[in-house]
Amino acid sequence: MSRFIVHGGNKINGEIKLQGAKNSILPILSAAVLTDGETVLRNCPELSDVYAAGRILTHLGCKIKKENNNSLVVVNNGISENTIPDRLMREMRSSIIFLGPVISRCGECSLSFPGGCQLGPRPLDIHLNSLRKMGVSISEEHGNIRCSAPAGIKGAKIILPFPSVGATENILLAAVLAEGETELRNPAREPEIIDLIQYLRLCGAKIDISEDSTLNIKGVSKLSGCEYSVIPDRIAAVTYMAAAAATGGALKITDTAGIDTELFSVYFEQMGCSVYTGNDSIYIKSGKRLKAIKSLKTMPYPGFPTDMQAIMMALLSIAEGTSVFEENIFESRYKHVDALNKMGADIKVYGKIAVVEGVKKLYGTEVEATDLRGGAAMIIASLAAEGTTVISNINHIDRGYENIEYLLSSVGADIKRKS
Ligand code: EPZ
Repeated sequence: MSRFIVHGGNKINGEIKLQGAKNSILPILSAAVLTDGETVLRNCPELSDVYAAGRILTHLGCKIKKENNNSLVVVNNGISENTIPDRLMREMRSSIIFLGPVISRCGECSLSFPGGCQLGPRPLDIHLNSLRKMGVSISEEHGNIRCSAPAGIKGAKIILPFPSVGATENILLAAVLAEGETELRNPAREPEIIDLIQYLRLCGAKIDISEDSTLNIKGVSKLSGCEYSVIPDRIAAVTYMAAAAATGGALKITDTAGIDTELFSVYFEQMGCSVYTGNDSIYIKSGKRLKAIKSLKTMPYPGFPTDMQAIMMALLSIAEGTSVFEENIFESRYKHVDALNKMGADIKVYGKIAVVEGVKKLYGTEVEATDLRGGAAMIIASLAAEGTTVISNINHIDRGYENIEYLLSSVGADIKRKS
């Protein structure tokens, strides 16, 4: 298994270009199941999860080709398959977002339960109960989900008990070709949901967003492929900002147009960094020792993002003072704490609360990436640590970060991939 070898202590200084958003491209790739003809996706990040989604699309009957580094072409001349085998479902946690489009296109779909992951059990009750309201009959047995909608999918009034990102995407993808109208209240409001809506509208979907964020979808008879550029990846931006903040450096990140950078810059400013946000770039300058943040509670967008939690914890583990995290989105998203403590951090977990006593220094050692953002936290901690850190299980990191070791090396980090 590949590893990253990081020699800590170098300041991160320079400029990098931000990648396209993983959590945008994945639902948009599943939306390509619904469209006829060719879809060209620009600003597509080179990630293992994108290749996994491509393998599912190919299995379903689409043709995928890379046009250049960051453009992907999906040609859909018909969906010939409505079952997604376990070997493909297991490759990517969020493969469940193919359920809505396949049911919509084929009238039936069988796939295996993607199962839990490092973040805890990943139930699908909100997805499945919503699809049932749209006329889909669903049976769950022996880890498989069998769905059918012989009379086609019908529009429905749906209120989500929790603004689940994946469930919002599945409902959207089931509703755009449904018979009648769907009203979806309390949907997820993440920028990646808006990106999916923009892509679907460009393909011919009729989707309105009301003042209170309710989504109103009028089913249409057909959607055609189009050319679309996905938004930049806000969590990747946070990750590279954290690399500069952790090492007392200064970094400019370009190609940020389309994301609200102020929503996450505020946390870096609370830690004492200077941040300047432009239309298409963001500049962060760290400097003296970071300051603790008394309370950070993860919330649905636009609150403090759960995907930022591990990255901020790595940073705050060397800040001056005590920071208290409350993880409200996932059941167990503290798998990175043991590794940070092994590097010399002082973090105690009490259920969904994590108390971080800032220490002056972390020390390099051998650690494992536990999940995607936990792995990113390991990189941030190792850049600031004294000595050498070996990070294993970096396949988790490759799921969401495009060429992270090259990008960080280009701005001063001493990080190498060893297979
Ligand atoms: C998406 O996951 C993102 N993944 C996650 O990013 C992100 O952390 C999460 O949204 C929250 O913002 C992608 O977009 C590919 P949810 P998703 O459905 O859709 C519970 C990353 O690091 N829930 O909003 O799975 C669920 O268990 C990844 O890039 C139910 O109980 O998130 C969780 O506790 C990690 N029943 C909470 O809701 C359901 O039917 C949030 O889940 C569905 C979800």
